[in-house]
This record gives sequence, C-alpha cells and structure tokens, in this order.
Amino acid sequence: MPAYAVIGAQWGDEGKGKIIDFLAENAAVIARYSGGNNAGHTVINDAGTFKLHLVPSGICWPHTMNVIGNGVVVDPDVLLKEINENELDPQHLAVSDRAHLIMPYHIVLDQLEEERRGNAAIGTTGRGVGPAYVDKVARLGLRVGELLDPENLALRLPEIVAFKNEIITKIYGGDPVDLDSVFALTNRWATELAAYIRPVENIVADALESDGNVIIEGAQGSLLDLDHGTYPYVTSSNPTVGGTLTGLGMGPGSYGGVAGVYKAYCTRVGAGPFPTEMLGEEGDRIREQAGEYGTTTGRPRRIGWFDGVAGRYSARVNGFDAMIITRLDTLDGWDEINICVAYEIDGVRTEQFPVDAVMLDRAEPIYETISGWTESTRAITEYSQLNAGARSYIKRLEEIVGVPAKIISTGPRREETLVLQDFLAH
Ligand code: GDP
Ligand code: IMO
Ligand code: MG
Repeated sequence: MPAYAVIGAQWGDEGKGKIIDFLAENAAVIARYSGGNNAGHTVINDAGTFKLHLVPSGICWPHTMNVIGNGVVVDPDVLLKEINENELDPQHLAVSDRAHLIMPYHIVLDQLEEERRGNAAIGTTGRGVGPAYVDKVARLGLRVGELLDPENLALRLPEIVAFKNEIITKIYGGDPVDLDSVFALTNRWATELAAYIRPVENIVADALESDGNVIIEGAQGSLLDLDHGTYPYVTSSNPTVGGTLTGLGMGPGSYGGVAGVYKAYCTRVGAGPFPTEMLGEEGDRIREQAGEYGTTTGRPRRIGWFDGVAGRYSARVNGFDAMIITRLDTLDGWDEINICVAYEIDGVRTEQFPVDAVMLDRAEPIYETISGWTESTRAITEYSQLNAGARSYIKRLEEIVGVPAKIISTGPRREETLVLQDFLAH
C-alpha cells in the first residue's frame, strides 16, 4: 500500500499530532523522519491527552507499528521516558539503528551557542537538536546502532568527548562533560533500548509491499526547513517532503499523497521574520483563548493571520496534493478575518516568498479581509453543518494556496474532524 505524508506547512505546531492520531486508524505503520524532541505533538482522544516529542502519534492505536527513522536525532533519555510512560513494546515501536544520538554535550552546546548569539539568538528549543545534526554532517556523530557495540564506542567516545570539551571550555568558557558518566549513560541506554533498535527501512518497505498504509509524520514545519525555511531562523533538518525519503530510506514512487497541515491562522515559536504577526490585543486574544503555548518549551507562541504567500510557497516546495486545515474553531466569533495575499517590500508588491530573512522581515502584509462568523464550528464533522462564513473561508484558503482541502479539524480531540475527501484513498 502507498505512503502518505502529513507535513507541517507553516512554522510548526499546526496540529500534526492530532491529524496523525485521526488517520492512524487506517494505517499499519506511522513513521517519523526528521527532527528530534524539539517536536511536541499533542494527541487527545478517549485514552487521554498525550504530549509526544519523539514517538510517533500513532501509538494510541494498538494495531500500528510506530517507527523512528534514520533522519531523526534521538535523545534516548526522552525516548525511554516516552516508552515507559506509554508502555510501548518492541511490537509497537522501533527506532532506526542509523538514527543519530543526541548526546549530553549537544544539549550543553545548544544552550551555549544560543547565549553567544545574544540578540541574534534563534530561540531554539535547547534540546541539542542543532548540534547533533552538525555532528552528523561533520561525521562526528554517534548512531543508535553503535550503542550495541560498546567496544567500538569505548574507542570513539574519548576522542569525540575530548574535542567537544575543548569547544565547551575554550570557546564558550563552559563546564566540560565527564567522559566516564557519558560512557556509563550509553551503556544504560544500550541495555534499555536494545530491543527497539531495528533497521526500520525494512519495516517501512514491508508495509509498502503488503496491504497496510504507511503514514509519514512531519515534525516542525516547512518554513523551519533548513533549505526552504526562513534561514537562519530555522531548525537543522528538512521537515519538507524531501526529508522523508532520506529520513526513512524509501523511494518517491511509494507515495499515494502528500498533505500540508495548515493552521487556519499562523503561529511561530522562537525568533525570525513573521510578516502577519498580530502584535497587539488581537494576538493576545487568540493566544489566551486557544492556549497557544509551546508543547515542548511552554513558551508563548507568536500569533499571526493566515499567510497566503508563505502558504502557497510551502505547497510548492512540497508538492502538496491536499490541504489539512486545523483550528478552524479558534476563529469562531471574529467579525472580520484577514488573509495575507501579497507582501509589500520596500514599496513593491510581491506574491513571491523572499529568500532572505532580512527582506522577509521588511515585508508588509497586504490583506484581504473577509467577514467572520458567529456560529460555533467546534466539533462539527459534517460539511452540511458548517456555516456559510466558515465555508467561504476554507474555499478562499484553497484558492490562495492552490491545493484542495481534504480534512478540516474543528477541535483538538480525535473525533472533532471533518473529512471532505478521503486523503488515504489512492
Ligand atoms: P503539532 O506540533 O503540529 O503536532 O501541534 P501541537 O500539538 O504542538 O499544537 C497544536 C495544538 O492545537 C495542540 O494543543 C492541539 O491539541 C491543538 N489542536 C489541534 N487541532 C485543533 C483544532 O482543530 N482545534 C483546536 N481548538 N485545537 C486544536
Ligand atoms: P513541532 O513538531 C514549533 C523552532 C524553535 C526555533 C527553531 C530552531 O511541534 O511542530 P531547534 O530546537 O529545532 O534548533 O529550534 O525551530 N521549532 C519548532 N517550532 N514546532 C516545532 O515542532 C518546532 N521544532 C523546532 O522554536 O525557532
Ligand atoms: Mg508542536
């Protein structure tokens, strides 16, 4: 059966976790391919509320196999906590032997690097994700599978830790990490994780060759992508669709569909340009009413109107064939709703998303204002029940982004979902 990707289309936190939990009923395998525990995916269903950072959002369905692909960077402490809290066994969860490890010195370096950036800080989640990817590219990384070979680890680790400690102490004036404790930690991780460590590309390939759908779970968002996002205010991986192939080890012919998850407005955590940001009371109203605080760090999320320029760009760099719109209910009760249809940059109107973060920072949004609606859309599951204002808002977003909406989310709970077209139908 085919693979279906569900990818963040904005700056993260679009509600991917909720959508994956909804779709996973009809999937055999749910796979994460990028990022690490910088992600925070909220799943709410009859079994409770789950805030997942590393394990895929399919875990609430007993029939699913959930896999963490080689493109993910893994902090084993976080993974073990999620395994224990959710009582996950190796029949239900596997982690790639090729995934890179987030080591204690990565977390130290993430924090020291941010301090050093001062006013230019990225506002990272401080989980060591960026430094772990840097080591992967620098060929200094340690992989999950290496935990199972302590003799080799005992050879590699002293060299790497010595080098990292030089950077920590000599460049940043920080405290070195202790080699013996790091080695002891890797031994414990090896014992506790061994049963979950697998070549997950085989699990994905087997599902694709048999009759189960594979759902590929995005983390972060396309505008945080290392290549396509608002560089340098980005994460250190490729959340866009290209990252799914390298991050899982599968071919492009496997795809049945690629959906972009768009919030009905925009949010961003951390620093970086955000043209439609609502800085005054309007933003506060949405943040407080909707509880827009980060799932991972608890930081207040910055709020903005729907950015059609960014949304169209995101659809293009991913080749989305479906839009999934979340949090429609959050816009209930607004007299008027703005949609950004173009930018004005240095007096010139453009519908192109600029490459340069400095230029994007100067972009003034050009809004189209549409009438809001007073009726509640919360928990609506039938299109016929949706009021005319909400319908025309969805239609306008489809036109601007250029992709049909297939699912509308009308609340955080699994069942608060309106299906317009079956996304999993090939
Ligand atoms: P993710 O990182 O993309 O999985 O998104 P997060 O879980 O970090 O943030 C999305 C937030 O919106 C969570 O608190 C969800 O419970 C909530 N949420 C998702 N969909 C909806 C929706 O349609 N309506 C409302 N009101 N909340 C939603
Ligand atoms: P989910 O999967 C929102 C942001 C951080 C920061 C930038 C770089 O829940 O959508 P990093 O720690 O990755 O080096 O930080 O990226 N960021 C996210 N923002 N949702 C996320 O994940 C994010 N993961 C990283 O806030 O601006
Ligand atoms: Mg999140």
